[in-house]
Amino acid sequence: MTDAAEAGTAVRPGDRVTDAAGADAAGAEPAILTRGLTKRFGRSTVVNGVDLTVPRGSVFGFLGPNGSGKTTTIRMLLGLAGATAGDIRVLGHEMPARAATVLPGVGALIEGPGFYPYLSGAANLRRLDAADGFAPHATRAARVDRALERVGLGHAAGKKMRAYSLGMKQRLGIANALLAPRELIVLDEPTNGLDPQGTREVRSLIRSLASEGTTVFVSSHLLSEIEQMCDHVAVMRAGRLVAQGSLDELRSAGQARVRLEVVTADAAAAEAVLARLTAGAPRIESVPGIESAPGSTGGEWMLGAALPDGLPPETIVSELVAAGVRVRGFAVERASLEELFVELTGEGFDVVQ
Ligand SMILES: Nc1ncnc2c1ncn2[C@@H]1O[C@H](COP(=O)(O)OP(=O)(O)OP(=O)(O)O)[C@@H](O)[C@H]1O
Ligand SMILES: [Mg+2]
Repeated sequence: MTDAAEAGTAVRPGDRVTDAAGADAAGAEPAILTRGLTKRFGRSTVVNGVDLTVPRGSVFGFLGPNGSGKTTTIRMLLGLAGATAGDIRVLGHEMPARAATVLPGVGALIEGPGFYPYLSGAANLRRLDAADGFAPHATRAARVDRALERVGLGHAAGKKMRAYSLGMKQRLGIANALLAPRELIVLDEPTNGLDPQGTREVRSLIRSLASEGTTVFVSSHLLSEIEQMCDHVAVMRAGRLVAQGSLDELRSAGQARVRLEVVTADAAAAEAVLARLTAGAPRIESVPGIESAPGSTGGEWMLGAALPDGLPPETIVSELVAAGVRVRGFAVERASLEELFVELTGEGFDVVQ
């Protein structure tokens, strides 16, 4: 009998290997775990029963359209707003009860950091660091300099905040989150207001933090951005979590489709083969520039259809060939993440900056 079985906690096949607190088999609790997290303002429920699991070491994208509840969720995670209902654990401890234990390990950038316009960037950071009861005074100046260098503001350290561009202010906010070594960095829309170059710099900063083992939780309403820097994602829609998992898991959730380019005198025959094999109505397009309306005597068509689970795509090709249809091109495609998210959220995400 194993120790676990003696202790009455044996894992049966098929069980999720997590305990009540969501710790994985290695014993590391997720960086963030919420269960039933809910926030109501008056009669409106803006965060509704959210169960988030943010694995340690992940770069976790928190994606959702404007007003879907991202900032409100983040404020509750950090103990800046009270939850109406539900449980929160951050770095293995209950929040907000254990805020004094948890918060020194967490760096955060949330909407509108409180900077003084008449102080320099460096002076603002020194002030915020001094207000942090856990930050050692002796190393303050060095830590401020290092954080400013890290976000590319070394040259502007002595400049007054009011002369900072929006992007520089945003980077100063990130520098503030980096004043001490952190286990978890929470960034609410860190690329807001940044130009494409600034956006690239923030992305590479996030990747470099992740490569050092820091968990990064980053919100955005831009799918393209999340795709470029995250390995996990959660999607909010109107206060509810509608999807969560690794990007690979979400990608493979989209249904596979085949796209075939065929040459035939009989488009209807090709269509019938495809319809029989996929039990669906194939989409047919004629290839531009070739006289090939379905029903005419010859030509080239593109056929596309959703692929049922378990049907080897090569079967489609061999059956078409057996029916006298020549196949010039063949591809298996999956619904893009963007299509999936449009389906999940009922609206489009901006895909370009
Ligand atoms: N203090 C408040 N009182 C009342 N309603 C609020 C309050 N704060 C947020 N809300 C509402 O909660 C909803 C979610 O807002 P939240 O700021 O969390 O969304 P978001 O996903 O961060 O949006 P964005 O992408 O625009 O930043 C919105 O409808 C907002 O109007
Ligand atoms: Mg927000």
